[in-house]
Amino acid sequence: MKYLEFGPEKDLVSVIGAGCMRIAGMTEDAVEAFVLNAVDHEINFFDHADIYGGGKSELLFGSVLKKHPSLREKIFIQSKCAIHDGLFDFDRDYILKSVDGILSRLNTDHLDSLLLHRPDALMEPEEVGEAFDILKASGKVRSFGVSNMNRYQMELLSSGLNVDLSANQLQMSLVHAPMLEAGFNVNMMADASVMRDGGTLEYCRLKKVVVQTWSPLQIGYFGGVFLKDERYPELNALLDQLAEEQHTTPDAIAYAWLLRYPAKMQVITGTTNNEHLNNAAAAADVVLTKKQWYDLYKAVGRRLP
Ligand SMILES: NC(=O)c1ccc[n+]([C@@H]2O[C@H](COP(=O)([O-])OP(=O)(O)OC[C@H]3O[C@@H](n4cnc5c(N)ncnc54)[C@H](OP(=O)(O)O)[C@@H]3O)[C@@H](O)[C@H]2O)c1
Repeated sequence: MKYLEFGPEKDLVSVIGAGCMRIAGMTEDAVEAFVLNAVDHEINFFDHADIYGGGKSELLFGSVLKKHPSLREKIFIQSKCAIHDGLFDFDRDYILKSVDGILSRLNTDHLDSLLLHRPDALMEPEEVGEAFDILKASGKVRSFGVSNMNRYQMELLSSGLNVDLSANQLQMSLVHAPMLEAGFNVNMMADASVMRDGGTLEYCRLKKVVVQTWSPLQIGYFGGVFLKDERYPELNALLDQLAEEQHTTPDAIAYAWLLRYPAKMQVITGTTNNEHLNNAAAAADVVLTKKQWYDLYKAVGRRLP
């Protein structure tokens, strides 16, 4: 496993983080096995959100922590808030109330990272700053970040904060990479030239913000995995070939492609299958050459200008 420095206290977190959105449908025993297997494979980072399974993902995870109290100090737990009742809500009191709910479901007295799940257009940065200060002073949250925000939203929010943003969680995969495509096609009259995010990846690199990639294997928005999907023959052939050459699996190559981008990259997996998670853990040790990285980018059907 490889680790990167995260947050103001520079905690070492695994570059593969186990996403817990889909554990809501598992039994308590299966979640216990999932968490213990992840830790056995040197994954120490778990990603939650208060809305996953309507709170059930956190509840199930909390029952594992209750059964294995010594686990807590070995792992880094992140959760998210700000989505409720059809709106995105950065109100101070809503954030504070959300964190209390998260801590109670997770059976823990602190979160290692709190992300604001999606940008609230009506945000008041100073109000968020107050909430973060209270959460930090009380010891309930150790570091703060965002999800699905562009560069200027991060800057706007930061203008009211007394802390640095530690992470931005963004959708990114081999087949969903508009942030890269726009960077390759600057100022051209092509669809790929449309900048949808305002240079967020480059901004995160400059500010040393951890880029967490969600849905690393999905087509579009939860459209199923691209592995073995017949719409991506060239990509799957290359994933298979590189996997064979590197004595690893095609999913590990797909994760390694994300990790090869030179920001502080962290892949947030979505698998609930232990074997698939072990493939992800192995991806941390796969290093792709620049040529292999570009070939994979193009194997999706993209062309460089
Ligand atoms: N910030 C946000 O807005 C946001 C949004 C969505 C998700 N997230 C976070 O990102 C995490 C990952 O998202 P995701 O679940 O969409 O990720 P994903 O890894 O792209 O998709 C997970 C799905 O892929 C399947 N899968 C994984 N490995 C496979 C393999 N080797 N072969 C075949 N199928 C495979 C899984 O099935 P198996 O279980 O059978 O492996 C599962 O159904 C979530 O858990 C959550 O923590 C964040």
